[in-house]
Amino acid sequence: MITHFAQLQLNTVSIQGIKQFYHDQLRLPIVYESDNEICFKPTEYFTLSFKEAAEPLSPVHFAFEIPASEFENVVEGLRETGITFLKWPDGRDIDDFGTGKNVYFRDGDGNLLEIITHTYVKEGILSPGGELKILYLREIGFPVDSVIDFRELLVDIFNFKLDKVFDDFTFAISGTAHAVIASKKRKWIPIAMTALPPKMNVSFGASSSGFIEMVKTNLTAKGIHYDENNEKGQLHFSINDYSFRLGLTDFPEEVPALLNL
Ligand SMILES: [Fe+2]
Repeated sequence: MITHFAQLQLNTVSIQGIKQFYHDQLRLPIVYESDNEICFKPTEYFTLSFKEAAEPLSPVHFAFEIPASEFENVVEGLRETGITFLKWPDGRDIDDFGTGKNVYFRDGDGNLLEIITHTYVKEGILSPGGELKILYLREIGFPVDSVIDFRELLVDIFNFKLDKVFDDFTFAISGTAHAVIASKKRKWIPIAMTALPPKMNVSFGASSSGFIEMVKTNLTAKGIHYDENNEKGQLHFSINDYSFRLGLTDFPEEVPALLNL
């Protein structure tokens, strides 16, 4: 199975701007830095990296899950560092959606970040990372022309489960990873932000080599070309202009169930 998002690699127009936001303000630890690339490790199992690219950017939406017991503290801490939360049309910036709470804000490239918590997610299973107390990267947004076609591919190729199934929106879920599949015509909440497909590399963790073999078979059946990096034991392929990697991970396979997901 796919256990989690292992890496999200985005383009940026300024490594220094990214560093000031993600390291100086959000306090994410840096694990690699060069003139044109910077990598952060918000948790033991997830890397967020940015590469400088001289091309226009489309903002990405992604969400970090944090423990319910830490939510108020983390949000107040972010306010103190000068983060401006985005408001809903009625003026509030924290949303209580019943099973949890969330806030949204943007980085200097316009990426739409979310800090989210769910009361049903069991604490004490994963150790919260850094000052933001991040448990895992929960969501990555995938704006597409056809939500129905894209989610069917994710189900057929990776065995994703679906939730909140609408014609213009669906969660495709495996482990802690939630792919937010949204129509390009449906705007991102809470600021009605146009959902443009971003250029990004998304790496999934796989729990077994048998699963990777199954994905290879499924990709071939769909006529999707893949490359193999034997050194890293990774598959690389593209679906709808989104670039994916799939590799073996030591993220424990039982964690999602223990988290009550
Ligand atoms: Fe979200």
